[in-house]
Amino acid sequence: MDKLLIRGGKKLKGSVTITGAKNAALPLLAATILTDDVCVLKNIPTLTDVGTMIKILTRLGKNVTKENDVVTVRSSNTNKYKALYEIVSTMRGSICVLGPLIGKRKKAEVSFPGGCVIGPRPIDLHLKGLRDLGVNLKVKGGYLIARGEKIRGNRIYLGGHFGSSVLATANVLMAAVLARGKTIIENAACEPEIVDLAGFLKKMGAMIRGEGSHRIEISGVKKLHGCTYSLIPDRIEAGTYMLATAITKGNVFLKNASYDNLLALIDKLTEAGLNIERRKNGIRVRYTKPLRPIDVTTFAYPGFPTDLQAQMMALMTVTEGISVITEKIYPERFIHVSELSRMGAQIVLEGPNTIIKGVKRLSGAPVMASDLRASAALVLAGLVAKGETEISRIYHLDRGYDNLEKKLSRLGADIKRVKE
Ligand code: EPU
Repeated sequence: MDKLLIRGGKKLKGSVTITGAKNAALPLLAATILTDDVCVLKNIPTLTDVGTMIKILTRLGKNVTKENDVVTVRSSNTNKYKALYEIVSTMRGSICVLGPLIGKRKKAEVSFPGGCVIGPRPIDLHLKGLRDLGVNLKVKGGYLIARGEKIRGNRIYLGGHFGSSVLATANVLMAAVLARGKTIIENAACEPEIVDLAGFLKKMGAMIRGEGSHRIEISGVKKLHGCTYSLIPDRIEAGTYMLATAITKGNVFLKNASYDNLLALIDKLTEAGLNIERRKNGIRVRYTKPLRPIDVTTFAYPGFPTDLQAQMMALMTVTEGISVITEKIYPERFIHVSELSRMGAQIVLEGPNTIIKGVKRLSGAPVMASDLRASAALVLAGLVAKGETEISRIYHLDRGYDNLEKKLSRLGADIKRVKE
């Protein structure tokens, strides 16, 4: 197993290129099941989660090749419909093959995804939405067994205890594009990754309106065709580098980053005193003065993303004063708190709220990565800590950050990957 060694204290400077969005790549790759034609997806990041999705597609009879950031998907066997436990259990995002399998092949057997380290992750909304489309769904032997011969358009309310759901919206959308009649998804997720999915589906011939709002309308079509499509840049990767620049008091240009998709983070960091400018081809981030503490609450898009909560907390641990961070999407997503505390952070955790008292400096320590975004927070902390930080179990980072240590080294960080 690899680990990262970081010596803190270097300011990040220069330019970093933001790659395609992981959370767009997974549903878009799954959506290729909806046609037997060839699909070409560009700007696909190199990540283990993408590799996992390619493995699932291969087992489902697709012939997939990846050359740099271009993935080509061809059909070789269109009769397969089972996504096995040994793959689905490694990545919850695998659930997004359910909708397209039902939509195109009219049946699916997908391993029921378990819980994960960021807390309970139910799939009741996926099941409700698909049942409302007339899909017959049961759970047997740990698998979701779905039969969709009678699938038809319907009006579906897709809100749960925590609001809308990104992948439930994706699953219902992908099942509905080939269903007879009209489907309306109320309380749909508005995330840019859903807009990107709808963009790809429309290029394949689907009829969709309202993506990006809470109401998506779909008029079912008989068939979708292949196409070439380029993915949006990863807003969470961009946000992570923005926070890395802030924490190291640096000056970095985020090439290809979308300003419009990061408004909630930009708003908070500007309030804290960071200088952020929209540029033609990206975002310029500059630290010019000491930052102020801030209060942040995570919400569904366009609110502050839960996927940047841990990295924001790392920044607040070294920002003088008291900050409060409240997690409203995954109230238990605080596994990074104890590891940050090992580095000298002062954080009080009370239910879904954290109170952070900024300290002058963190100190390097051996820490353990636990989930993707928590691991990114530890990297950020390591970049400013005094001495050496050793992060083990970094396979979590490889799931979601394309070439993280190389990109950070090029910006001047003292970071290296070594074998454990
Ligand atoms: N929820 C339900 N019932 C459901 C589905 C979700 O109650 O059937 C709840 C969840 O427990 C959570 C909230 O609804 O409280 C939102 O979850 P959502 O379904 O939107 O999450 P997701 O679609 O499973 C995606 C991303 C996550 C990201 C969340 C929230 C992918 C592959 N994953 O998950 O990304 O945190 O949306 O924005 O798109 C990550 O990249 O590190 C990551 C975890």
